Amino acid sequence: MSPAPQFLHSLAQALSTLALYPEGHVSRERVLDNLYQRLRDLLAEHRHPVFSFLGGDEVVYNDLPLREMRTWDWSRRLAEVGIQRLQFDQTVVREELEEFLDMVLARLTLAHIDTSEARQTRPTGIRYGLIGVEGQDHLREDAAMATIRFSLEDEADAIRWIHGELVDGRTLPLLEAEAVVRSLSVAMHGEQQIMVPLLRLREFDEYTTTHSMNVSVLTMALAEWVGMGPRDVRSFGVAGLLHDLGKVKIPKDILNKSGRLTSEERQVMNSHPAEGAKLILVSQPDLDLAAVVAYEHHIMINGGGYPRFTYDRVCHQASRLVHVCDVYDALRTNRPYRDAWASDKILAYIEERSGVEFDGEIAHGFTRMIREWEPGMVEVASESVDLLQGAGPADPPDEG
Ligand SMILES: [Fe+2]
Ligand SMILES: [Fe+2]
Repeated sequence: MSPAPQFLHSLAQALSTLALYPEGHVSRERVLDNLYQRLRDLLAEHRHPVFSFLGGDEVVYNDLPLREMRTWDWSRRLAEVGIQRLQFDQTVVREELEEFLDMVLARLTLAHIDTSEARQTRPTGIRYGLIGVEGQDHLREDAAMATIRFSLEDEADAIRWIHGELVDGRTLPLLEAEAVVRSLSVAMHGEQQIMVPLLRLREFDEYTTTHSMNVSVLTMALAEWVGMGPRDVRSFGVAGLLHDLGKVKIPKDILNKSGRLTSEERQVMNSHPAEGAKLILVSQPDLDLAAVVAYEHHIMINGGGYPRFTYDRVCHQASRLVHVCDVYDALRTNRPYRDAWASDKILAYIEERSGVEFDGEIAHGFTRMIREWEPGMVEVASESVDLLQGAGPADPPDEG
């Protein structure tokens, strides 16, 4: 078989495998290695290989139809998610290939896709998009790309379902959690600049769902901001998503209480970090980072917060990142016992508490990031996208 059909068969195999296995899994690595090797074969044969997927079952490779790929139904699927044209440069690296596949998978699983506008955000060795009316030989740099019309409803449903599974004593469904993080990451990169899509709270008892998604998005944004690679960003995103998992063990009347908690209730509430870490480790021992973050996300840099220790404990960087994102999202949300804070007020609070509650460097990074990306922050509710607004004064926080 010549390199082009071989590459496409490997591509289909990789997409099916990646949908099934979590990051780092040996099967995943194997198909990625194989696909990357097929791509290098292709690049050895042609300097700029270009595929066109025209819907139907037609695949065109460098302007010639690939007859042997007539029955390849991935052609239609790729076209449907806005990848009608796929071009590789000699510079392409394996990591870009993996990111590309994750993006394709996320698009295949996201509910609302609008392929009419938007652009590719970063220059890479892989370019893709819709086929234009003119200049069909090459993609323009600003090639049209699919964008996500933000409705994170499916993802919120997935989180509710994950929480339900745990309440019923079943194991943590890791693949679904990772799929949500993948969708959130794609939503962040779907526009010309970084977007920070934050869910708006509609019902009080929805807090844990919206809050966990928001903390995941903010943590990924911050991890990316401080220069971490895509793989770490994603694991931090999973840790952010699961940080409050232990709350499924807290009785609803304590969780949603509008008044002050009694000291007994407070004790129950403060058990959620340890409960969360246990829940994660029991069902997914490989998720040790998420378990550590669940355990540590209320520990302050000066040793305050909870759980309490009789020795100095240096918390993981992921826990410190999640801690600041956690407090930010908690404060920008209306709660039964106080109004939401305005963003400026929260940022001032975070700066004031830097070095005491928050890691100084991470706190400064976070406030700088929010100020810079504020224009790209959107609140998401059902089908619509509005600019983020904060409001109202409030008491000092003790939550998240
Ligand atoms: Fe939280
Ligand atoms: Fe928490």
